[in-house]
Amino acid sequence: MYGLEVGLFDEIESNGEPLTAAGIARKFNYDKSTTERFLNTLVSLDLLDKEVHKGNVVYSNTAGTTKYLTRSRRPALIASAMSEFNVILPLLSNLTSTLKSGKAFIDMANIKAGKMLNNENPPMKNIHIEDQKDTAHNKGSHTESSHTPGVNCTNGVTPNGTNGISANITGTNGTHTTNGTHPDKASNGSKPAMDCSAMIMLSMDGLTVPCAPVLVKAFDLSAHRTAVDLGGGSGLIGRTLASHYPEMNITVFDLPSVVQLAKKLYPENSSGQVNFVAGNFFEDEIPDADLYVLSHVIHDMTEKQIDILLKRVYNKLPPGGSLLILEKTLDEMKDGPSFAVSNDLIMSLISTGRERSAKEYREMLEEQGFTNIQIRLVGGYNYFDAILSKKPF
Ligand SMILES: C[S@@+](CC[C@H](N)C(=O)[O-])C[C@H]1O[C@@H](n2cnc3c(N)ncnc32)[C@H](O)[C@@H]1O
Repeated sequence: MYGLEVGLFDEIESNGEPLTAAGIARKFNYDKSTTERFLNTLVSLDLLDKEVHKGNVVYSNTAGTTKYLTRSRRPALIASAMSEFNVILPLLSNLTSTLKSGKAFIDMANIKAGKMLNNENPPMKNIHIEDQKDTAHNKGSHTESSHTPGVNCTNGVTPNGTNGISANITGTNGTHTTNGTHPDKASNGSKPAMDCSAMIMLSMDGLTVPCAPVLVKAFDLSAHRTAVDLGGGSGLIGRTLASHYPEMNITVFDLPSVVQLAKKLYPENSSGQVNFVAGNFFEDEIPDADLYVLSHVIHDMTEKQIDILLKRVYNKLPPGGSLLILEKTLDEMKDGPSFAVSNDLIMSLISTGRERSAKEYREMLEEQGFTNIQIRLVGGYNYFDAILSKKPF
């Protein structure tokens, strides 16, 4: 994690050839001997390779590190790792409070929106959220206190003039942008800081990227001409749908701040086939479609919110239209698969929602009038299963 935060892997990659421990120590102004021990630890974790080259011991990134842990390669797992480390792990220290109260300590949806749901919540002990006051978008958003060294989350979109996301993920050795540009070498010595919204969006994408092609092909969706991905976030599922179904027009519908961020993080989103609409799916008109997608949206919500949203979707769908829900299902005993179970616990800490079993999703959809419910379980350690249902003719 430390290697990620300081940009070690980026530094090695950008050097073009393997580096000695002394060379790396010089770049970071570290002690050579300790640096060597740190690098050897990373070798033992398969994050670095070590070899003798022209009589010198040199270090280079492993293929996996290059692919997933360097900022110039997209998609990278950096944001997922940083989100785990800086947000999820610290939140686990609040487990006692959630176990006792049965209530989430924070609502992640509100962090993304730049505020806390319930100002009466006790201060978050382990996360410092800073407003960026000069950002018009953030006016009036909430500032939480209690600074914990090394954990520093800034809310919202960065001020104009900083390309929207630069400085969102910074390390002690400089600034790393999330859009694949090389780290800024100018060290400001600041604590790691990241924009929560960007980090959460990128971290979800890091986990979704390997699954997205599987998910859009879990069912044959080629009969559908217009799809709306409600709460579609970065547009990753939308773009993947577009690449597999060239005849399909896709709208990614999300809150205005999220749409703004998605366009900044992924300028390539604005292809003709995929477009963004900003709005609130509880309040605003939902665009027409014969396929609606809800990916990791239901599990954030209360039963009442789900009921309202599914009714709105059902009413918008033409007869024969489909709803595709992408969520990880719990098994019937709710003690597996492990990823779904641990995510369910995390949901209890950070949201008003929960994970559900396939049977619960089936019952939920049947209650709303959906038929032809099919569920495809996606194997392996991942975030998703796919649930397709139809509005009857
Ligand atoms: C957990 S994220 C999932 C994002 C994306 N679908 C994915 O699978 O990675 C939930 C998304 O729902 C959006 N969302 C939540 N409430 C919303 C609302 N009332 N109207 C529109 N979008 C909303 C959030 O902004 C967020 O992008």
